Amino acid sequence: MNIFALCSVCAIFLAGSPVFAVDEVSVDRGRELFSSPELGKSGKSCFSCHPGGKKLEMAAASENDERLTGMINNCIVQVLKGKALAPDTVEMQSLLMYIRTFGGPGR
Ligand code: HEC
Repeated sequence: MNIFALCSVCAIFLAGSPVFAVDEVSVDRGRELFSSPELGKSGKSCFSCHPGGKKLEMAAASENDERLTGMINNCIVQVLKGKALAPDTVEMQSLLMYIRTFGGPGR
Protein backbone atom coordinates (compact mmCIF):
# COMPACT_ATOMS: atom_id res chain seq x y z
CA MET A 1 0.00 0.00 0.00
CA ASN A 2 1.54 3.32 -0.96
CA ILE A 3 1.43 6.44 1.13
CA PHE A 4 -1.54 7.94 -0.76
CA ALA A 5 -3.69 4.90 -0.25
CA LEU A 6 -2.78 4.96 3.41
CA CYS A 7 -3.79 8.61 3.72
CA SER A 8 -7.19 8.04 2.22
CA VAL A 9 -7.80 5.27 4.71
CA CYS A 10 -6.83 7.72 7.44
CA ALA A 11 -9.18 10.35 6.05
CA ILE A 12 -12.11 7.95 6.09
CA PHE A 13 -11.27 6.94 9.63
CA LEU A 14 -10.98 10.56 10.79
CA ALA A 15 -14.21 11.58 9.09
CA GLY A 16 -16.04 8.97 11.15
CA SER A 17 -14.43 9.89 14.43
CA PRO A 18 -16.19 11.94 17.12
CA VAL A 19 -13.87 14.88 16.51
CA PHE A 20 -15.61 15.46 13.21
CA ALA A 21 -19.08 14.47 14.36
CA VAL A 22 -21.92 16.53 12.91
CA ASP A 23 -23.61 17.01 16.25
CA GLU A 24 -21.60 19.98 17.45
CA VAL A 25 -22.76 23.14 19.13
CA SER A 26 -23.46 25.63 16.35
CA VAL A 27 -25.78 28.42 15.30
CA ASP A 28 -26.96 26.24 12.43
CA ARG A 29 -27.93 23.42 14.76
CA GLY A 30 -29.72 25.98 16.94
CA ARG A 31 -31.62 27.35 13.97
CA GLU A 32 -32.62 23.84 12.96
CA LEU A 33 -33.94 23.04 16.45
CA PHE A 34 -35.72 26.38 16.64
CA SER A 35 -37.88 25.54 13.64
CA SER A 36 -38.26 21.86 14.33
CA PRO A 37 -41.24 20.33 16.16
CA GLU A 38 -38.94 17.63 17.55
CA LEU A 39 -38.49 19.47 20.87
CA GLY A 40 -42.00 18.62 22.02
CA LYS A 41 -45.25 16.83 21.33
CA SER A 42 -47.46 19.77 20.44
CA GLY A 43 -46.48 19.79 16.77
CA LYS A 44 -45.28 23.38 17.16
CA SER A 45 -41.78 24.75 17.04
CA CYS A 46 -40.25 27.83 18.60
CA PHE A 47 -40.57 29.41 15.18
CA SER A 48 -44.39 29.09 15.29
CA CYS A 49 -44.54 31.80 17.96
CA HIS A 50 -41.18 33.51 17.66
CA PRO A 51 -40.60 33.90 13.92
CA GLY A 52 -37.40 35.79 13.32
CA GLY A 53 -36.82 35.93 17.07
CA LYS A 54 -40.02 37.81 17.81
CA LYS A 55 -40.36 38.63 21.53
CA LEU A 56 -36.90 37.21 22.21
CA GLU A 57 -34.81 40.30 21.45
CA MET A 58 -34.80 41.63 25.00
CA ALA A 59 -33.98 38.32 26.64
CA ALA A 60 -31.34 37.53 24.03
CA ALA A 61 -29.60 40.80 24.72
CA SER A 62 -29.91 40.99 28.48
CA GLU A 63 -30.38 37.65 30.23
CA ASN A 64 -27.46 35.54 31.37
CA ASP A 65 -27.16 31.95 30.13
CA GLU A 66 -28.73 30.45 33.21
CA ARG A 67 -31.85 32.61 33.06
CA LEU A 68 -32.17 32.34 29.31
CA THR A 69 -31.88 28.55 29.59
CA GLY A 70 -34.73 28.62 32.10
CA MET A 71 -36.91 30.68 29.76
CA ILE A 72 -36.20 28.35 26.87
CA ASN A 73 -37.07 25.33 28.98
CA ASN A 74 -40.28 27.03 30.13
CA CYS A 75 -41.46 27.23 26.55
CA ILE A 76 -40.26 23.71 25.77
CA VAL A 77 -42.09 22.18 28.74
CA GLN A 78 -45.22 24.33 29.00
CA VAL A 79 -45.89 25.19 25.40
CA LEU A 80 -44.30 22.46 23.32
CA LYS A 81 -45.07 19.71 25.86
CA GLY A 82 -41.52 18.49 25.63
CA LYS A 83 -38.78 17.59 28.05
CA ALA A 84 -36.53 20.26 29.50
CA LEU A 85 -33.04 20.21 28.03
CA ALA A 86 -30.06 19.98 30.37
CA PRO A 87 -27.96 23.15 30.15
CA ASP A 88 -24.83 21.36 28.98
CA THR A 89 -26.35 19.53 26.00
CA VAL A 90 -25.48 20.27 22.40
CA GLU A 91 -29.16 21.07 21.85
CA MET A 92 -29.44 23.69 24.59
CA GLN A 93 -26.06 25.25 23.86
CA SER A 94 -26.93 25.53 20.17
CA LEU A 95 -30.35 27.03 20.91
CA LEU A 96 -28.70 29.58 23.21
CA MET A 97 -26.16 30.44 20.55
CA TYR A 98 -28.87 30.90 17.93
CA ILE A 99 -31.18 32.91 20.18
CA ARG A 100 -28.27 35.21 21.08
CA THR A 101 -28.20 36.24 17.42
CA PHE A 102 -31.56 38.00 17.99
CA GLY A 103 -29.98 40.21 20.61
CA GLY A 104 -28.66 42.57 17.97
CA PRO A 105 -25.28 44.17 17.54
CA GLY A 106 -25.48 46.00 20.86
CA ARG A 107 -24.70 42.88 22.83
C1 HEC B 1 -47.32 28.67 21.39
C2 HEC B 1 -46.40 29.80 21.28
C3 HEC B 1 -44.96 29.63 21.75
C4 HEC B 1 -44.05 28.68 21.36
C5 HEC B 1 -44.27 27.51 20.43
C6 HEC B 1 -42.80 29.01 22.01
N1 HEC B 1 -42.95 30.13 22.76
FE1 HEC B 1 -41.46 31.12 23.77
N2 HEC B 1 -42.85 32.40 24.49
C7 HEC B 1 -44.18 32.45 24.13
C8 HEC B 1 -44.83 33.52 24.86
C9 HEC B 1 -46.29 33.92 24.73
C10 HEC B 1 -43.83 34.12 25.67
C11 HEC B 1 -43.99 35.31 26.60
C12 HEC B 1 -43.46 36.48 25.82
C13 HEC B 1 -43.89 37.79 26.30
O1 HEC B 1 -44.95 38.23 25.85
O2 HEC B 1 -43.13 38.36 27.11
C14 HEC B 1 -42.60 33.40 25.41
C15 HEC B 1 -41.38 33.70 25.98
C16 HEC B 1 -40.17 33.14 25.62
C17 HEC B 1 -38.88 33.57 26.12
C18 HEC B 1 -38.64 34.67 27.13
C19 HEC B 1 -38.75 36.02 26.47
C20 HEC B 1 -38.74 37.13 27.49
O3 HEC B 1 -38.14 38.17 27.21
O4 HEC B 1 -39.37 36.97 28.55
C21 HEC B 1 -37.95 32.79 25.53
C22 HEC B 1 -36.44 32.87 25.69
C23 HEC B 1 -38.67 31.86 24.66
N3 HEC B 1 -40.01 32.10 24.74
C24 HEC B 1 -38.08 30.90 23.89
C25 HEC B 1 -38.78 29.93 23.20
C26 HEC B 1 -38.14 28.80 22.59
C27 HEC B 1 -36.63 28.54 22.54
C28 HEC B 1 -39.12 28.05 22.05
C29 HEC B 1 -38.98 26.70 21.37
C30 HEC B 1 -38.38 25.67 22.20
C31 HEC B 1 -40.39 28.73 22.31
N4 HEC B 1 -40.13 29.86 23.03
C32 HEC B 1 -41.62 28.29 21.87
C33 HEC B 1 -44.81 31.63 23.23
C34 HEC B 1 -44.25 30.53 22.63
